Amino acid sequence: MGFLPLLTRDRGRRLHLPAHGRGAGLPDDLRAMLRHRAGIWDLPELPELGGPLMQQGAVAESQRQAAIAIGAERGWYGVNGATGLLQAALLAIARPGQAVLMPRNVHRSLIQACVLGDLTPVLFDLPFMVDRGHVLPPDGPWLKDVLNELPIAGVEIAAAVLVHPTYQGYATDLKPMVVELHSRGWPVLVDEAHGAHFASRVDASLPDSAITAGADLIVHSLHKSAAGLTQTAVLWSQGDRVDPKAVERSLGWLQTTSPSALLLASCEASLSDLCKPAGLHKLGTRLKDARELAVQLRQLGLPLLENQDPLRLILHTAAEGISGLEADAWLMARGLVGELPEPGCLTFCLGLAPQRGLVRLMHRRWRGLLAAQGKGLPLPVFTPPPLPRITAPAMACGLAWRAQSRRVSIADAVGRVAAELICPYPPGIPLLVPGEKLDHRRVDWLLEQQNLWPDQIAGTVKVMAL
Ligand SMILES: Cc1ncc(COP(=O)(O)O)c(C=O)c1O
Repeated sequence: MGFLPLLTRDRGRRLHLPAHGRGAGLPDDLRAMLRHRAGIWDLPELPELGGPLMQQGAVAESQRQAAIAIGAERGWYGVNGATGLLQAALLAIARPGQAVLMPRNVHRSLIQACVLGDLTPVLFDLPFMVDRGHVLPPDGPWLKDVLNELPIAGVEIAAAVLVHPTYQGYATDLKPMVVELHSRGWPVLVDEAHGAHFASRVDASLPDSAITAGADLIVHSLHKSAAGLTQTAVLWSQGDRVDPKAVERSLGWLQTTSPSALLLASCEASLSDLCKPAGLHKLGTRLKDARELAVQLRQLGLPLLENQDPLRLILHTAAEGISGLEADAWLMARGLVGELPEPGCLTFCLGLAPQRGLVRLMHRRWRGLLAAQGKGLPLPVFTPPPLPRITAPAMACGLAWRAQSRRVSIADAVGRVAAELICPYPPGIPLLVPGEKLDHRRVDWLLEQQNLWPDQIAGTVKVMAL
């Protein structure tokens, strides 16, 4: 009875998040704290300690020191993941009725924030790789083409969002895009959930972080891309486009009044690992090991795709005719657990724990998988989403979400307005947003997606009642 025994079971090789790898990559300071009597550290916001929204106390001081060390002006620790901080950040930069420019690959938390805050997401399309079914991040020229399509009648854009890097570790140079968006007078929020380690500047070949690129608000998920416990995250701010008081007000709306001292301690310790010599040495070693691992696996014939984050390994299962979802199930049953199964790929997170013997294990498992499921031919190419370069939903997201609705089969939804998200998780990127009107091409594409993600996408969708 109960799931507690499951948590301490230690079987198989786990290449999933959180990145501390079941404790092996946790910061030394946190480990030392956890060696004290269990629970002794579980404290409320006592005056001496304070909390993320207090001006005084040890947590406030820790946030100030962390911001200086990372190169930002202000920082707030979060205990509800990147989700909670992204939502607070978005509500701080746009008022009800305004619109926010964002790429199609935003995490669902941002669309949900649009519903909460009565904001309109103006969504732009992204480069699409048909061999694997992934979108890539935009670059400067791509964004310029998007901006050339503006304005959209009746839509007032107040701010912009970028995602950097993607879940799979694809990144481009953010700076020209941030400069371009600033030239329009918009503050820029960057969802850098998967790229906290870029801010360490430990390694010249890692992409520049959004902090260096001059974004106004940046969210790092510390459990995805640093050594934080699950739910830890941090929001940074810099420059004078966003008033920190507006950020604090929306954090106050959306964060708990009882932040866990354990999670706050984990925020401090994981950030300290990104800035201080011992942590930097550990990260540098992990990056070097990860690059060597990829070279060896490629030499052994594993189809690994190029990306910009060495800690994410993208196995291109589609190249051998295998769905990433099926590969994941087969490998998991044999003790190799990945992070992100998708129709064309399986992405592994190497994380911050040392990975011994992984070349042999992955090679052996890949050969087994090929023998069991390989087709000798690649899967058919994936269809890009049939979307204009840029669109605003036909109806405000919040209105559609709250409207009278009914459930219809996707095939019957042509001409109807969606009243919910369609969103496989992971990766948590919506394929359909409430308020969008479905045409024939979009419905056909969604049916194709449903075939590709049978357990993740239902055959029905909630649409607004007529
Ligand atoms: C790009 C991106 N942003 C934000 C989030 C939300 O992060 P969290 O799980 O820390 O709330 C995710 C989660 O998968 C994500 O992939």
